[in-house]
Amino acid sequence: MRAFVLLASASRALAACSCAYYTLNATNTPNHAIFTESLETDFTQPNASLTWDSTPNFGWQAQAYNVTSTAARGPYGKTAEISNVVLNPQGLGLDLWVRSQPLEGMVPIAEVVTARTDILYGSFRAGMKTTGVNGTCGAFFFYHDDSQEIDVEVLSRQQFAGSDDHTVNLVLQSPASESARFDAAGTLGFTPYGVSFDPTSAFHEYRYDWLPGRVDMFTDGAWLHSFHDGVPDSPGAVHLIHWSNGDPGWSGGPPAEDAVLSVSYVKAYFNASGGASACSGDDGAARSLL
Ligand SMILES: *[C@@H]1O[C@H](CO)[C@@H](O)[C@H](O)[C@H]1NC(C)=O
Ligand SMILES: *[C@@H]1O[C@H](CO)[C@@H](O)[C@H](O)[C@H]1NC(C)=O
Ligand SMILES: *[C@@H]1O[C@H](CO)[C@@H](O)[C@H](O)[C@H]1NC(C)=O
Ligand SMILES: *[C@@H]1O[C@H](CO)[C@@H](O)[C@H](O)[C@H]1NC(C)=O
Ligand SMILES: *[C@@H]1O[C@H](CO)[C@@H](O)[C@H](O)[C@H]1NC(C)=O
Repeated sequence: MRAFVLLASASRALAACSCAYYTLNATNTPNHAIFTESLETDFTQPNASLTWDSTPNFGWQAQAYNVTSTAARGPYGKTAEISNVVLNPQGLGLDLWVRSQPLEGMVPIAEVVTARTDILYGSFRAGMKTTGVNGTCGAFFFYHDDSQEIDVEVLSRQQFAGSDDHTVNLVLQSPASESARFDAAGTLGFTPYGVSFDPTSAFHEYRYDWLPGRVDMFTDGAWLHSFHDGVPDSPGAVHLIHWSNGDPGWSGGPPAEDAVLSVSYVKAYFNASGGASACSGDDGAARSLL
């Protein structure tokens, strides 16, 4: 009788964890994190029939909106146009264009966002090659609201071709930066980081691991920086944006010619604010994230 009870509870326990899950560090070590959801998008698989419209592709939605120069806090406004989001016909990735010619005082820009808005903690990685054309900002970010945002921002005006002078900005928008009129520069959540590669000459991986009370930032798998203050704790979506508003203190620009940022992939492993999604009962195993 006793043996039967043990067997029955063991098989219930197995059934309860038959969905795939993802781990940062081995689960038998004290410092690890588990995530139950994933979104892996390979933008280098060409799909000639794919055109972006208002419906999501691959779990991503191309954005269309207008922001006045006042709201954009720059000399120009921004017009996000779906036509500036292009799956590269040669299979080089998802191209996000910033156009050189303003339209009614707005710079034409590109943005995509995950259809999911319930993302709460996770490890987020994007392969990106940023533009060498001066005057744009490329960003891979998590957004809940203006005071809960995790941001990796690459400014083309900070990339000096043929030199060692390349900067990647690691930013948390927090209640502190919100009260400083969205200038994270004066807060603990702003770290310009000198990287040893040229972001404009090849694809590199940009990554942030968002855990309760902590954000770790990486490039090409190498740890750069951790934030412990002002860490978001509310669900949101992941965005990729390429923009300019002519602000000489940030994006610079508008660019003198059309400028492109290419995204080869996004791999996101995360939890959902509503709990793990229903078990499809297929694969089962834990997958270690490197
Ligand atoms: C994984 O292990 C490394 C090395 O011990 C540690 O620095 C890191 O914080 C751990 N990650 C998590 C999510 O606990
Ligand atoms: C993610 O959700 C799983 C399942 O509920 C939980 O065990 C894990 O601790 C969560 N991870 C984080 C980083 O909160
Ligand atoms: C092409 O895109 C469509 C629409 O998103 C999708 O249903 C289809 O699976 C894709 N085909 C390939 C080969 O990726
Ligand atoms: C943005 O403004 C342009 C120029 O006035 C207009 O053509 C376009 O429809 C607007 N887009 C949105 C999403 O409102
Ligand atoms: C981009 O242009 C600005 C304004 O002219 C200049 O200060 C900056 O040094 C330029 N950056 C590069 C990488 O050439």
